[in-house]
Amino acid sequence: MTQPALSQDVSPDFAAEVRAGLTHTPQKELPSKYLYDEVGSALFEVITVLPEYGVTRAEERLLTKHAADIVAQLPHDVTVAELGSGSGRKTRRILEALCKKRPTSYCPIEISRTALQLCRRELGDIERISIVGYERDYLAGLAEVSKKRASGERLLVLFLGSTIGNFSRLAATRFLRAIRSMLAPGDALLLGTDLEKPVPVLVAAYDDAIGVTASFNLNLLARINRELGGDFPLDAFQHVARFNPDARSIEMHLRARRPVTAHIRAAQLTVTLEEGETIWTESSHKYRAEEVPAIADDAGFACSHQWVEREWGFAESLLVAQ
Ligand code: TRP
Repeated sequence: MTQPALSQDVSPDFAAEVRAGLTHTPQKELPSKYLYDEVGSALFEVITVLPEYGVTRAEERLLTKHAADIVAQLPHDVTVAELGSGSGRKTRRILEALCKKRPTSYCPIEISRTALQLCRRELGDIERISIVGYERDYLAGLAEVSKKRASGERLLVLFLGSTIGNFSRLAATRFLRAIRSMLAPGDALLLGTDLEKPVPVLVAAYDDAIGVTASFNLNLLARINRELGGDFPLDAFQHVARFNPDARSIEMHLRARRPVTAHIRAAQLTVTLEEGETIWTESSHKYRAEEVPAIADDAGFACSHQWVEREWGFAESLLVAQ
Protein backbone atom coordinates (compact mmCIF):
# COMPACT_ATOMS: atom_id res chain seq x y z
CA MET A 1 0.00 0.00 0.00
CA THR A 2 1.36 3.43 -0.83
CA GLN A 3 1.55 5.84 2.03
CA PRO A 4 -0.23 9.18 1.78
CA ALA A 5 2.15 12.10 1.31
CA LEU A 6 2.94 14.09 4.42
CA SER A 7 1.70 17.65 4.26
CA GLN A 8 4.39 20.04 3.08
CA ASP A 9 4.47 22.19 6.15
CA VAL A 10 5.09 19.61 8.85
CA SER A 11 6.59 21.62 11.67
CA PRO A 12 10.03 20.27 12.61
CA ASP A 13 9.34 21.50 16.17
CA PHE A 14 6.16 19.49 16.38
CA ALA A 15 7.88 16.31 15.20
CA ALA A 16 10.87 16.83 17.52
CA GLU A 17 8.73 17.60 20.55
CA VAL A 18 6.46 14.62 19.91
CA ARG A 19 9.53 12.43 19.67
CA ALA A 20 11.03 13.81 22.87
CA GLY A 21 7.75 13.45 24.76
CA LEU A 22 6.93 9.93 23.66
CA THR A 23 10.41 8.66 24.48
CA HIS A 24 10.35 10.31 27.91
CA THR A 25 10.62 7.76 30.73
CA PRO A 26 9.00 6.62 32.88
CA GLN A 27 6.02 8.84 31.97
CA LYS A 28 5.32 9.44 28.28
CA GLU A 29 4.06 12.95 27.63
CA LEU A 30 2.97 15.34 24.88
CA PRO A 31 3.16 19.16 25.01
CA SER A 32 -0.29 20.59 25.59
CA LYS A 33 0.19 23.55 23.28
CA TYR A 34 -0.36 21.17 20.37
CA LEU A 35 -3.93 20.51 21.55
CA TYR A 36 -4.96 23.74 19.83
CA ASP A 37 -5.03 23.12 16.09
CA GLU A 38 -8.18 24.12 14.18
CA VAL A 39 -10.14 21.13 15.50
CA GLY A 40 -8.79 21.49 19.03
CA SER A 41 -9.50 25.22 19.17
CA ALA A 42 -13.08 24.60 18.04
CA LEU A 43 -13.51 21.84 20.65
CA PHE A 44 -12.10 24.09 23.35
CA GLU A 45 -14.71 26.72 22.46
CA VAL A 46 -17.33 24.04 23.15
CA ILE A 47 -15.65 23.16 26.47
CA THR A 48 -16.03 26.78 27.60
CA VAL A 49 -19.82 26.51 27.37
CA LEU A 50 -20.20 23.06 28.97
CA PRO A 51 -22.18 23.05 32.23
CA GLU A 52 -19.32 21.21 34.00
CA TYR A 53 -16.62 23.71 33.01
CA GLY A 54 -17.35 26.81 35.06
CA VAL A 55 -14.01 28.55 34.47
CA THR A 56 -14.86 30.70 31.45
CA ARG A 57 -18.29 31.77 32.67
CA ALA A 58 -16.88 32.70 36.07
CA GLU A 59 -14.22 34.85 34.45
CA GLU A 60 -16.78 36.48 32.15
CA ARG A 61 -18.95 37.35 35.15
CA LEU A 62 -15.93 38.81 36.89
CA LEU A 63 -14.76 40.87 33.93
CA THR A 64 -18.28 42.08 33.14
CA LYS A 65 -18.86 43.21 36.70
CA HIS A 66 -15.47 44.83 37.30
CA ALA A 67 -14.22 46.01 33.90
CA ALA A 68 -14.54 49.70 34.79
CA ASP A 69 -12.83 49.18 38.15
CA ILE A 70 -10.00 47.17 36.57
CA VAL A 71 -9.42 49.81 33.90
CA ALA A 72 -9.48 52.54 36.55
CA GLN A 73 -6.43 50.92 38.18
CA LEU A 74 -4.34 51.01 34.98
CA PRO A 75 -1.89 53.66 33.85
CA HIS A 76 -2.98 55.99 31.03
CA ASP A 77 -2.12 55.09 27.47
CA VAL A 78 -1.74 51.32 27.66
CA THR A 79 -1.19 48.94 24.81
CA VAL A 80 -2.81 45.59 25.53
CA ALA A 81 -0.96 42.35 24.78
CA GLU A 82 -2.91 39.17 25.40
CA LEU A 83 -1.20 35.81 25.80
CA GLY A 84 -3.44 33.14 24.28
CA SER A 85 -6.47 35.17 23.27
CA GLY A 86 -8.68 32.24 22.30
CA SER A 87 -11.81 33.63 20.66
CA GLY A 88 -11.34 36.93 22.51
CA ARG A 89 -14.87 36.89 23.92
CA LYS A 90 -13.93 37.38 27.57
CA THR A 91 -11.48 40.18 26.69
CA ARG A 92 -14.23 42.25 25.17
CA ARG A 93 -15.30 43.93 28.42
CA ILE A 94 -11.83 45.18 29.25
CA LEU A 95 -11.18 46.43 25.72
CA GLU A 96 -14.52 48.22 25.56
CA ALA A 97 -13.83 49.95 28.86
CA LEU A 98 -10.35 51.00 27.66
CA CYS A 99 -11.48 52.15 24.21
CA LYS A 100 -14.21 54.25 25.79
CA LYS A 101 -11.43 56.32 27.35
CA ARG A 102 -9.02 56.46 24.42
CA PRO A 103 -8.07 54.63 21.20
CA THR A 104 -6.30 51.44 22.19
CA SER A 105 -4.03 48.95 20.46
CA TYR A 106 -4.72 45.31 21.15
CA CYS A 107 -2.10 42.67 20.30
CA PRO A 108 -3.37 39.10 20.68
CA ILE A 109 -0.51 36.57 20.78
CA GLU A 110 -1.57 33.09 19.70
CA ILE A 111 0.07 30.03 18.19
CA SER A 112 -3.31 29.13 16.73
CA ARG A 113 -4.07 30.99 13.51
CA THR A 114 -7.71 29.96 13.80
CA ALA A 115 -7.95 31.55 17.23
CA LEU A 116 -6.41 34.77 15.89
CA GLN A 117 -8.99 34.88 13.12
CA LEU A 118 -11.86 34.21 15.55
CA CYS A 119 -10.56 36.89 17.83
CA ARG A 120 -10.37 39.50 15.07
CA ARG A 121 -13.93 38.67 14.07
CA GLU A 122 -15.14 38.82 17.66
CA LEU A 123 -13.48 42.11 18.66
CA GLY A 124 -12.99 44.01 15.40
CA ASP A 125 -16.20 45.99 15.84
CA ILE A 126 -15.13 47.71 19.07
CA GLU A 127 -14.88 51.43 18.42
CA ARG A 128 -11.39 52.95 18.42
CA ILE A 129 -9.61 49.60 18.69
CA SER A 130 -6.69 48.63 16.50
CA ILE A 131 -5.88 44.93 16.44
CA VAL A 132 -2.46 43.56 15.48
CA GLY A 133 -2.24 39.78 15.87
CA TYR A 134 0.98 37.88 16.47
CA GLU A 135 1.11 34.22 15.46
CA ARG A 136 3.84 33.31 17.94
CA ASP A 137 4.68 31.59 21.20
CA TYR A 138 3.79 33.77 24.17
CA LEU A 139 7.25 34.99 25.06
CA ALA A 140 8.46 35.55 21.50
CA GLY A 141 5.27 37.50 20.77
CA LEU A 142 5.51 39.56 23.94
CA ALA A 143 9.16 40.41 23.25
CA GLU A 144 8.12 41.75 19.87
CA VAL A 145 5.21 43.79 21.18
CA SER A 146 7.35 45.21 23.95
CA LYS A 147 10.15 46.13 21.55
CA LYS A 148 7.80 47.94 19.16
CA ARG A 149 6.14 50.17 21.69
CA ALA A 150 6.59 53.93 21.69
CA SER A 151 8.40 55.54 24.61
CA GLY A 152 6.05 56.48 27.41
CA GLU A 153 3.57 53.82 26.31
CA ARG A 154 2.72 51.29 29.03
CA LEU A 155 1.92 47.65 28.49
CA LEU A 156 -0.96 45.74 29.97
CA VAL A 157 -0.41 42.02 29.56
CA LEU A 158 -3.51 39.84 29.82
CA PHE A 159 -3.01 36.24 30.85
CA LEU A 160 -6.57 35.13 31.42
CA GLY A 161 -8.46 31.88 31.72
CA SER A 162 -6.49 29.39 33.74
CA THR A 163 -3.54 29.00 31.41
CA ILE A 164 -1.06 29.79 34.19
CA GLY A 165 -2.46 26.64 35.81
CA ASN A 166 -1.12 24.59 32.91
CA PHE A 167 2.41 25.25 34.20
CA SER A 168 3.83 23.46 37.23
CA ARG A 169 4.14 25.84 40.21
CA LEU A 170 7.86 26.18 39.64
CA ALA A 171 7.45 26.77 35.91
CA ALA A 172 4.66 29.28 36.60
CA THR A 173 7.00 31.43 38.69
CA ARG A 174 9.70 31.15 36.03
CA PHE A 175 7.22 32.11 33.35
CA LEU A 176 6.08 35.16 35.31
CA ARG A 177 9.73 36.14 35.72
CA ALA A 178 10.25 35.81 31.98
CA ILE A 179 7.24 38.07 31.39
CA ARG A 180 8.58 40.53 33.95
CA SER A 181 11.94 40.66 32.16
CA MET A 182 10.21 42.07 29.08
CA LEU A 183 8.32 44.74 30.98
CA ALA A 184 9.23 48.11 32.42
CA PRO A 185 8.35 49.19 35.96
CA GLY A 186 4.74 50.31 36.02
CA ASP A 187 3.62 47.93 33.28
CA ALA A 188 0.90 45.55 34.43
CA LEU A 189 -0.18 41.96 34.15
CA LEU A 190 -3.78 40.88 34.67
CA LEU A 191 -3.61 37.24 35.69
CA GLY A 192 -6.50 34.77 35.87
CA THR A 193 -6.31 31.81 38.25
CA ASP A 194 -8.83 29.05 38.74
CA LEU A 195 -9.26 28.41 42.46
CA GLU A 196 -9.28 25.17 44.44
CA LYS A 197 -12.64 23.49 44.70
CA PRO A 198 -14.05 20.08 45.67
CA VAL A 199 -12.41 17.22 43.75
CA PRO A 200 -15.63 15.86 42.12
CA VAL A 201 -16.38 19.33 40.71
CA LEU A 202 -12.84 19.59 39.35
CA VAL A 203 -12.83 16.10 37.84
CA ALA A 204 -16.18 16.72 36.11
CA ALA A 205 -14.85 20.01 34.67
CA TYR A 206 -12.12 18.03 32.90
CA ASP A 207 -14.14 14.91 32.10
CA ASP A 208 -17.56 16.07 31.00
CA ALA A 209 -20.58 13.80 30.51
CA ILE A 210 -20.85 14.12 26.72
CA GLY A 211 -17.16 13.57 26.08
CA VAL A 212 -16.11 16.89 24.55
CA THR A 213 -13.01 17.10 26.75
CA ALA A 214 -12.21 13.49 25.88
CA SER A 215 -12.41 14.38 22.18
CA PHE A 216 -10.28 17.48 22.76
CA ASN A 217 -7.60 15.33 24.38
CA LEU A 218 -7.82 12.52 21.80
CA ASN A 219 -7.51 15.06 19.01
CA LEU A 220 -3.84 15.38 19.94
CA LEU A 221 -3.23 11.81 18.74
CA ALA A 222 -5.48 12.38 15.73
CA ARG A 223 -3.43 15.46 14.91
CA ILE A 224 -0.21 13.46 15.09
CA ASN A 225 -1.80 10.96 12.72
CA ARG A 226 -2.84 13.75 10.33
CA GLU A 227 0.22 15.95 10.37
CA LEU A 228 3.09 13.64 11.20
CA GLY A 229 1.97 10.51 9.39
CA GLY A 230 1.10 8.61 12.56
CA ASP A 231 -1.09 5.53 12.89
CA PHE A 232 -2.35 5.69 16.49
CA PRO A 233 -5.52 3.58 16.81
CA LEU A 234 -7.71 6.19 18.49
CA ASP A 235 -10.19 3.63 19.82
CA ALA A 236 -7.40 2.10 21.90
CA PHE A 237 -7.16 5.25 24.06
CA GLN A 238 -9.29 6.51 26.88
CA HIS A 239 -9.34 10.06 28.28
CA VAL A 240 -8.52 10.16 31.99
CA ALA A 241 -8.76 13.18 34.31
CA ARG A 242 -7.50 12.70 37.87
CA PHE A 243 -6.72 14.96 40.79
CA ASN A 244 -3.16 15.01 42.07
CA PRO A 245 -3.43 16.19 45.70
CA ASP A 246 0.31 16.84 46.07
CA ALA A 247 0.53 19.12 43.06
CA ARG A 248 -3.06 20.36 43.58
CA SER A 249 -3.66 19.80 39.91
CA ILE A 250 -5.98 17.96 37.59
CA GLU A 251 -3.93 15.72 35.31
CA MET A 252 -5.13 14.74 31.87
CA HIS A 253 -3.88 11.51 30.37
CA LEU A 254 -4.59 9.25 27.41
CA ARG A 255 -4.65 5.68 28.66
CA ALA A 256 -4.04 2.64 26.49
CA ARG A 257 -6.96 0.21 26.86
CA ARG A 258 -4.81 -2.52 25.34
CA PRO A 259 -1.18 -2.89 24.25
CA VAL A 260 -0.47 -0.41 21.44
CA THR A 261 2.28 -0.09 18.85
CA ALA A 262 2.22 3.03 16.70
CA HIS A 263 4.52 4.55 14.10
CA ILE A 264 5.02 8.25 13.52
CA ARG A 265 6.70 8.74 10.20
CA ALA A 266 7.78 12.37 10.44
CA ALA A 267 9.24 11.76 13.91
CA GLN A 268 10.94 8.54 12.77
CA LEU A 269 9.53 6.85 15.81
CA THR A 270 7.83 3.64 16.81
CA VAL A 271 6.15 3.79 20.21
CA THR A 272 4.77 0.98 22.28
CA LEU A 273 2.44 1.27 25.25
CA GLU A 274 1.47 -1.45 27.67
CA GLU A 275 -2.17 -1.93 28.59
CA GLY A 276 -3.01 0.74 31.17
CA GLU A 277 0.03 2.89 30.36
CA THR A 278 -0.71 6.58 29.90
CA ILE A 279 0.51 9.57 27.92
CA TRP A 280 0.31 12.69 30.07
CA THR A 281 -1.02 15.59 28.00
CA GLU A 282 -1.86 18.40 30.41
CA SER A 283 -2.12 19.46 34.01
CA SER A 284 -4.28 22.25 35.38
CA HIS A 285 -3.07 23.54 38.75
CA LYS A 286 -5.50 25.14 41.12
CA TYR A 287 -4.68 28.10 43.35
CA ARG A 288 -5.82 29.87 46.48
CA ALA A 289 -6.37 33.57 45.88
CA GLU A 290 -4.15 34.33 48.89
CA GLU A 291 -1.09 32.68 47.37
CA VAL A 292 -0.98 34.89 44.27
CA PRO A 293 0.64 37.94 45.93
CA ALA A 294 3.61 35.85 47.13
CA ILE A 295 4.12 34.31 43.69
CA ALA A 296 3.90 37.78 42.14
CA ASP A 297 6.47 39.11 44.58
CA ASP A 298 8.81 36.27 43.72
CA ALA A 299 8.62 37.24 40.06
CA GLY A 300 9.18 40.98 40.48
CA PHE A 301 5.57 42.15 40.57
CA ALA A 302 3.37 43.60 43.30
CA CYS A 303 -0.22 42.39 43.44
CA SER A 304 -2.14 45.66 43.71
CA HIS A 305 -5.71 44.43 43.36
CA GLN A 306 -7.66 41.20 43.28
CA TRP A 307 -11.19 40.44 42.14
CA VAL A 308 -12.61 37.11 43.27
CA GLU A 309 -15.63 35.25 41.92
CA ARG A 310 -16.94 33.01 44.72
CA GLU A 311 -19.75 31.15 42.97
CA TRP A 312 -17.37 28.97 40.90
CA GLY A 313 -14.07 30.03 42.44
CA PHE A 314 -11.91 32.16 40.18
CA ALA A 315 -9.60 35.13 40.77
CA GLU A 316 -8.31 37.95 38.60
CA SER A 317 -5.17 39.59 40.04
CA LEU A 318 -3.57 42.84 38.88
CA LEU A 319 0.20 42.60 39.15
CA VAL A 320 2.32 45.71 38.68
CA ALA A 321 5.94 45.34 37.52
CA GLN A 322 8.29 46.71 40.19
N1 TRP B 1 -6.35 26.24 30.41
C1 TRP B 1 -7.49 25.35 30.43
C2 TRP B 1 -7.60 24.75 31.82
O1 TRP B 1 -6.67 24.23 32.36
C3 TRP B 1 -7.34 24.33 29.36
C4 TRP B 1 -8.21 23.13 29.41
C5 TRP B 1 -9.52 23.00 29.74
C6 TRP B 1 -7.79 21.82 29.08
N2 TRP B 1 -9.94 21.71 29.63
C7 TRP B 1 -8.90 20.98 29.22
C8 TRP B 1 -6.59 21.29 28.67
C9 TRP B 1 -8.79 19.61 28.97
C10 TRP B 1 -6.49 19.93 28.40
C11 TRP B 1 -7.58 19.10 28.55
O2 TRP B 1 -8.64 24.82 32.44
